[in-house]
Amino acid sequence: MMKNYITSIFLLLVLGQCTQHAETTQKSMIKKENWWKESIIYQIYPRSFKDTNGDGIGDLKGIVEQLDYIQNLGVDAIWLNPIYSSPNEDNGYDVSDYRAIQPDFGSMDDFDTLLAEMHKRGLKLIMDVVVNHSSDEHEWFKQSRSSRTSPFRQYYHWWPAEKGKPNYRYSLFDTKGDAWKYDSLTDAYYLHYFSQKQPDLNWENPKLRQEIYDIMTFWAEKGVDGFRLDAFQFAAKDTTFPAFPTGFEKNFIDYYAMQEGLHLYLKEMHKEVFSKYDVMSVAEGAGRNFKDAHELVDEDRNELNMAYAFEGVDLAKYEGYSLVNFKKVFSRWDSAFSEKGWLSIFLANHDQARLVSRFGNDSPAYREASAKLLNTFILSMRGTPYCYYGDELGMTNQTFKRIDQYQDIAARNGYQKALAEGEDMELYMKKLNFGSRDHGRSPMQWNASAQAGFTNGKPWLPVNPNFKKINVQLQEKDPNSVLNHFKKMTALRKENPTLVYGRYTLLSPDHPAIYAYTRSWEGTQFLVLLNFSDQASSLNLPMDISDAQQLISNTDQLVRNGTAVTLSPYQSVILKIK
Ligand code: GLC
Ligand code: CA
Repeated sequence: MMKNYITSIFLLLVLGQCTQHAETTQKSMIKKENWWKESIIYQIYPRSFKDTNGDGIGDLKGIVEQLDYIQNLGVDAIWLNPIYSSPNEDNGYDVSDYRAIQPDFGSMDDFDTLLAEMHKRGLKLIMDVVVNHSSDEHEWFKQSRSSRTSPFRQYYHWWPAEKGKPNYRYSLFDTKGDAWKYDSLTDAYYLHYFSQKQPDLNWENPKLRQEIYDIMTFWAEKGVDGFRLDAFQFAAKDTTFPAFPTGFEKNFIDYYAMQEGLHLYLKEMHKEVFSKYDVMSVAEGAGRNFKDAHELVDEDRNELNMAYAFEGVDLAKYEGYSLVNFKKVFSRWDSAFSEKGWLSIFLANHDQARLVSRFGNDSPAYREASAKLLNTFILSMRGTPYCYYGDELGMTNQTFKRIDQYQDIAARNGYQKALAEGEDMELYMKKLNFGSRDHGRSPMQWNASAQAGFTNGKPWLPVNPNFKKINVQLQEKDPNSVLNHFKKMTALRKENPTLVYGRYTLLSPDHPAIYAYTRSWEGTQFLVLLNFSDQASSLNLPMDISDAQQLISNTDQLVRNGTAVTLSPYQSVILKIK
């Protein structure tokens, strides 16, 4: 089980897995208003968005070129995956210089232009901060490696070989799953929770911590509006490296996450950086349970603004999941945060396969309806929505059959490991094709010209062959497109704070096909109806909706009669009932 789990795709996705139950609270609440609560965040994977110089790699100039498009989506902020100098072992999640722009993406001048042009349009910028680890090509690591007495030695975790082999630690991207790499230069092992080229930084060292705060200050001074903390829950470690505790063999993520010290580091970061600027902060992962999640984000703790939990997105890690469970998970999280703290809502990002392929139905008959339904869900829940580039079009997975079609280190190294361990490779490839991160990284589909208008050259990752049918240009012209529905939804959310702050109440929790909920705030009430099935489905509501106004539907008018509704396959509707 552990083996499948590990070799599957990407374990960090379970980082926030949470098993606690919280009681549903019916108390109404009014949250303190805040720009980052009201913002819709659009995530861009820069390599794949728009290439302007024909090298097949998206760049900052490409994003600048498309800012009007982004502004027209009705989003408020852009989260950019890492754009710092990097040897690209993990596409930028291995940083070699935190103050320089990856040359593939452009220059610091391009960055300054991007930020200025964004601010001109009222768009905010969230930077990805990758500081659980750096690249092994970072100057710190080069120095650290060079001698045991280097002043940078303590920037990383070293284990002198004369003490014997250190206790086992699991590595997510290592071909052997071993997080200790022996380095003969100084006869010692260094720790890497991710690949060998991503050595973990030593947060116990106050000097290292100060370096990081200085880096964040550098970007905050430039005027960025927020930070997303990559894998930060792993940053604190028991540096005596005791034996891996029993009981965690199947769940090492829970052992790595939220170790002692983490809250102190976050409080210090808050004091040194967040408190001095109008920046928002969001962590990848929300701890091991609701208590952890609250301790990360509750306002009186002065740590972070938001975290994002993986429990929801993980439901579709493999094929088949139940809607009843999906509802349960999202309702539990909402309920746990109804009084205090704030959630992030997402179903896709650069670590996931495509939204509509995982949670919807990407067959020609239902792709559009189900993509609209999923966007309706994300944009009508309480919490800050994170929308991943391409999902506003309903971009899909492709079919990958051979391992050489994958670019992602998680796929390539995971494959090596599975092979070495004698796994069922047919099954492995099947799972990979379902859930690989590469699906979510294929180039943005702008138009029907060669390479979907993404590049004039050869794209770093193949364009999805369906780009002639699914692209921005076509969808802009079609009033019923997924894209135009997305824009209607962002506008609806903007015009109605009820969709941001309103109390969420789940209806008919056991209905196998329809997800129904209300959002209520200051005397207004909205009803959201989502049919997650390819069959027409009916539901009896606890209220008469004869007079309710239909605000948006992805397909037709809702069929309704008093308290009874029938939704067509994948229909999603929002009604104003008060
Ligand atoms: C995070 C990122 C992922 C990356 C990993 C290592 O999970 O989202 O893309 O591979 O951290 O930095
Ligand atoms: Ca380029």
